[in-house]
Amino acid sequence: MSTKALQRLIAQNRRWSDSIKNRDAQFFSTLAHQQKPTFLWFGCSDSRVPANEIIGVMPGEVFVHRNVANQVPPTDINALSVLQYAVERLNVTDIIVCGHYGCGGVMAAMEGVGESLVDYWVQPVREIYLDNRKQFDQLPTESARQERLCELNVMTQVNRICRTSILQQAWDRQNKISVHGLIYSIHDGLLKDLKVSVSKTKA
Ligand code: CO
Repeated sequence: MSTKALQRLIAQNRRWSDSIKNRDAQFFSTLAHQQKPTFLWFGCSDSRVPANEIIGVMPGEVFVHRNVANQVPPTDINALSVLQYAVERLNVTDIIVCGHYGCGGVMAAMEGVGESLVDYWVQPVREIYLDNRKQFDQLPTESARQERLCELNVMTQVNRICRTSILQQAWDRQNKISVHGLIYSIHDGLLKDLKVSVSKTKA
């Protein structure tokens, strides 16, 4: 990044900070003491799907983990430590998995085996596709198939989260915590509820 580009970001940051302090002089000093987010967000790294902006919340309201194709692999210590910290320390009440249509990671998974690291990363998404081949073959267009895989991927991650010992133990403790699946359209900026919310279940 050129020095000029960096300076532009720092200047924009100054203006952003000032605009928040103008509305609420205590905003940053209050947040500095502790965070109490209500939501945990698992989303895609895609630059067009920024968690805070699309759900209209301020810093401090959503704990966020993002990776390519919004996955929560059962062996990923990064995603799982975020999940555990959010559930056991921050006491979030709602976990959101948010996919998006037109996801490059999901499209790469559908296209098949490549050799880059991201191809390995999205291999579990490819397996969702291969495991549901019949359902996909019935869809009329490639874009319908891609959209369906984006949705099925979200649903798979919701199930994975629910099956973790982290959620199972939280529910055993009678913690009120729900897991939701949403999908975002980069065409109109709107979220859709996939209606797969889970409030308590057994693995
Ligand atoms: Co994506």
